Amino acid sequence: MTRAALATISQMPQITLKTVFADDPDRLSKYVLTQGALRFDWSKTHLTDELMSGFLALADAQGFAARRDALFAGEAVNVTEGRAAEHPAERGEGNAESVALAKALHKRMRALIDAIEADALGPVRHLLHIGIGGSALGPDLIVDALEGDGDRYDVAIVSNVDGTALERAMDRFDPAATLIAVASKTFTTTETMLNAASAINWMVEAGVDDPYGRIIALTAAPDKAMEWGVDETRILPFNESVGGRYSLWSSIGFPAALALGWDAFESLLEGAATMDRHFRLSDPRENAPLIAAFVDQYYTRILGCETRAVFAYDERLRLLPSYLQQLEMESNGKAVKLDGTPVDGPTAAITWGGVGTDAQHAVFQLLHQGTVLTPVEFIASKEPGNSLDPAHHRALLVNCFAQGAALMQGKDNDVDPARAYPGNRPSTTILLDDVTPEALGALIAFYEHRTFANAVLMGINPFDQFGVELGKEIARSIEADGPKGFDPSTMALIELALGDI
Ligand code: F6P
Repeated sequence: MTRAALATISQMPQITLKTVFADDPDRLSKYVLTQGALRFDWSKTHLTDELMSGFLALADAQGFAARRDALFAGEAVNVTEGRAAEHPAERGEGNAESVALAKALHKRMRALIDAIEADALGPVRHLLHIGIGGSALGPDLIVDALEGDGDRYDVAIVSNVDGTALERAMDRFDPAATLIAVASKTFTTTETMLNAASAINWMVEAGVDDPYGRIIALTAAPDKAMEWGVDETRILPFNESVGGRYSLWSSIGFPAALALGWDAFESLLEGAATMDRHFRLSDPRENAPLIAAFVDQYYTRILGCETRAVFAYDERLRLLPSYLQQLEMESNGKAVKLDGTPVDGPTAAITWGGVGTDAQHAVFQLLHQGTVLTPVEFIASKEPGNSLDPAHHRALLVNCFAQGAALMQGKDNDVDPARAYPGNRPSTTILLDDVTPEALGALIAFYEHRTFANAVLMGINPFDQFGVELGKEIARSIEADGPKGFDPSTMALIELALGDI
């Protein structure tokens, strides 16, 4: 049935975007959906009523409603690891027991933040947050987007094992006024543990009293954090069933809650909960994450687009593309279906992107005239993130909207083909009322559910990530045994560059 639904979709006639609005005057009302502070516009994609019906049939064939219910019920939807995926419970949606646990753990986090604000842990001006992947990208995005003037606490988020990253952050901070948050779901990730050890050394060398008393652990493995030396009272646990790249809502969001204040963190959660309810309860025809997944599936699986580009036309959202890279590619970059059999087509597109207007002067040439079709997503905000002359925000939005129109309509040039624009290139625009905690929470939850909806349509598990393990295993073996048993290229590299380290 799945194959049949896909085959039917692939035979449907394709419209041309150049004349799409002339051909269907109702198009805007059909393919624009406003959900709270977010307005989704798919009218400049190739979506048609026929395609919608085809994808709705595919969603049915793939048991979309049942899999969505299973997600929210806290069932073991992560089949390869026999685990639930309970990020919605962190926002108060889903299995009652998990929601209660999340609330209790949030209460504990809030109490620690209150204590820090009351100087109970000594003077604190800086937070050095150490974590990688899902333990860094989400908090980094939120703090960067919402911190504003950053007058509460200075936050540095260090992920890379390259000591340069840590050294640069330490150079900015006074060790006597710094708290270190060690963020790791497993509390075993080598990059994080090495960075954390070096950060403690930095405090020791600076003569800070009781450096371990300045450590806060954000983890789903509290025993490991205690073994490592963190005081039980400084451990902020989160539920094991919250996946790493879905964990910013849990104690992994500690830097955001500290830097922005608890009310803002709560608003972020509430914004996400609003999107949870929309995804769970709304009709598939009006369901933003599901419709976005239909568009993704059309370009990736039917038209064979290998990438999709995301451009934030708002400096506050400059980290969104890298956040989405982990969310989408670590979740859906898979080669087998839920039952372990090989997938029958492409899975996740390569997500890439940047910020407007910078990207226009760097990569947009290829989007307009290159030979690969790349669906583009623009994200912008009606309200600016600055108090300068409104001309800035106006220019930003004008450029954003102009790019979408240019990609769609193109421009002929019979005299000089180098100056012709083919057009018929799709884009989606997500317009926020403003980049508030609520809107950002809803936007991120939208992307999470869209990723899940894509996985359902492809019949894959978005919640494991075994692909990252082999490289880690080989790195461990090089650390342990040096250049033994590898190919000549790897052996030569190890001997040349690691000999003296
Ligand atoms: O190696 C990939 C990964 O497991 C990600 O999925 C995760 O977000 C990251 O490493 C960090 O893991 P942890 O939070 O356990 O340190």
